[in-house]
Amino acid sequence: MDTRLVRDFTKLCSDGYAQGWHERNGGNLSYRMRDEEVEEIRDLLDENAEWREIGTEVPDLKNEYFMMTGSGKYFRNVELDFEDNVAIIRVNEDGTKYQIVFGLVNGGRPTSELPTHLMNLEVLKQRDPEMRVVYHCHPANTIALTFLLPCDDQIFTREIWEMMTECPIIFPKGIGTVEWMVPGGREIAVKTCEIMKTKDVAVWFHHGMFACGHDFDEAFGLMHAVEKAAEILLKVMSVSDRKLQTITPEGFREIEPASNVKLDESCLYERVDGRIGRK
Ligand code: 13P
Ligand code: ZN
Repeated sequence: MDTRLVRDFTKLCSDGYAQGWHERNGGNLSYRMRDEEVEEIRDLLDENAEWREIGTEVPDLKNEYFMMTGSGKYFRNVELDFEDNVAIIRVNEDGTKYQIVFGLVNGGRPTSELPTHLMNLEVLKQRDPEMRVVYHCHPANTIALTFLLPCDDQIFTREIWEMMTECPIIFPKGIGTVEWMVPGGREIAVKTCEIMKTKDVAVWFHHGMFACGHDFDEAFGLMHAVEKAAEILLKVMSVSDRKLQTITPEGFREIEPASNVKLDESCLYERVDGRIGRK
C-alpha cells in the first residue's frame, strides 16, 4: 500500500527511531483516518475480520478507522515492512470492540496501549475534530527528569518552558504528569485522557511521553521540542542546583500578546533563588 498517509505514518516511525526514542518495541503511534483515506484503500480492507474487546469504551469513535503500530513491533521495522508492523482497525457500533481490517499480516494485535490511544483520540476529537495523531515514545532526557522533578504539572511545565523561549508558544497549556503506574490498561488511559482534555503533552513517570497533534509533523515536533528542552534542563541541573538567571513570570506574560497565546497562569508561580519549585 503506497498512499500519502502510509508515507507520513512511516516517516514519523523512522524519524522517532533515528532520535533514539524507540528501543526494541518501545513506543506506539495511532492516527484517526479521514473518510477519503478509508475510501482510497477500501478494496484492501477485510470487513469480516473477527471482533475483539478494546478493554474500554470509546462511543464517540464508533465505526471509525485507525492506523496504528502493532504490539511488540519495532518502529525500526515499519519502513522495512509496513504490513507486518502496522494495522488498520475499525471500531464497532457501540465503541467497545475492534477488528483488524488491514495489516499485521503475520499475526499479532494493535499496541498494548490501545486503550490510551483510543481514549485520547476520542477526547481530542471532542476538543477539535481535526486532531488525529497520538504518539508515544521513550525519550531518555524526559524520562531522566521524572527522577529529579516532582510529579507536578505546574513545576514540570515551568522547568521545561524556561529552557527554550519557543516552548511556551508551542505548548501554552503546559505538560501533564502521570505518576508511575502499570501501563497498557484502562486506569493509565483514564489519567492520560484527563490531561488531553486540555493539554497536548503527557509525561508518564519513569516510562515515557505522549504527544498529540493535527498531523504527524505537529505531534513529532511537539515531542522533539519537549525532549530537547529536557536535555537542556538536565545539562543545567548536572552543573548546578540553581540558575543564575532565567525567564521570569513577567517575561512569559510578555510572550502572550507577541505570540497570540494564552499561557496556563498556574505555572507562573513565584520561586526562590533560581531553584526548582514554588516559593
Ligand atoms: P507495544 O509494543 O505494545 O506498543 O508497547 C510498547 C510500549 O511502549 C508500551 O508502553
Ligand atoms: Zn511505552
